[in-house]
Amino acid sequence: MRRKLVVGNWKMHGSRAENAKLLSELWRALPAPQHVDVAVCPPFVYLTTVREQLIGSAFKLGAQNVSAADPGAITGEVAATMLSDCGCDFVIVGHSERRQLFGESDEQVAQKTAIALRYGLMPIVCVGETLTEREAGKTLDVIARQLDAVFTSLSTAELHRIVVAYEPVWAIGTGRTATPEQAQEVHAFIRQRLLRYDAAQVQILYGGSVKAGNAQALFAQIDIDGGLIGGASLNAEEFAAICKAAE
Ligand code: PGA
Repeated sequence: MRRKLVVGNWKMHGSRAENAKLLSELWRALPAPQHVDVAVCPPFVYLTTVREQLIGSAFKLGAQNVSAADPGAITGEVAATMLSDCGCDFVIVGHSERRQLFGESDEQVAQKTAIALRYGLMPIVCVGETLTEREAGKTLDVIARQLDAVFTSLSTAELHRIVVAYEPVWAIGTGRTATPEQAQEVHAFIRQRLLRYDAAQVQILYGGSVKAGNAQALFAQIDIDGGLIGGASLNAEEFAAICKAAE
């Protein structure tokens, strides 16, 4: 059976004081998660401090982005080697905000996935359709294109070390969640696609306005293995409740 995973994507939020408070509240609310892995993804500048604060807890650490290149003269970028060095377990790649706001292409997402794997990070590869694409009936075509760009460049062994996150763009930060059935339909499609590459056991997370109130119904779907949580991960009580729903 696939283990559940819940990842908090803090996006561009927090401060040293706020992060410390959030983590201590979270630790209190969720002292020892049993049947679920939990990770938090703070902004780059806080990774090291958060790593230190997580010592002795079961929580894992992730980054929100990574450079597609090896270390070198690229101002403002952060290399996969550096994320490993800072104790990251995961890195989110291809988040829709990166694709939309920074024009990240499928090819760059594939490169980022490959370099993350090379340096021992587990990439959380995000895919998802926009509202226009959904309304035009193109959801599965878009997902297939985004997945294949990454999958074709990896070996089967590498594929077993990734996580996929399905995040419909129209559900991110909008309060509008996909229904469990809508999400399951796409997750089942992703599972089929993974099967083609001999990697059907890869965890598939759902993301997009997941809250304590809707998490259980989503996580009960057969192909939903946990969540990538944005807004609700900034509230310890809410995030802990989502993790418990996954347990
Ligand atoms: P949200 O964000 O939970 O705030 O909708 C999810 C995400 O973007 O990863």
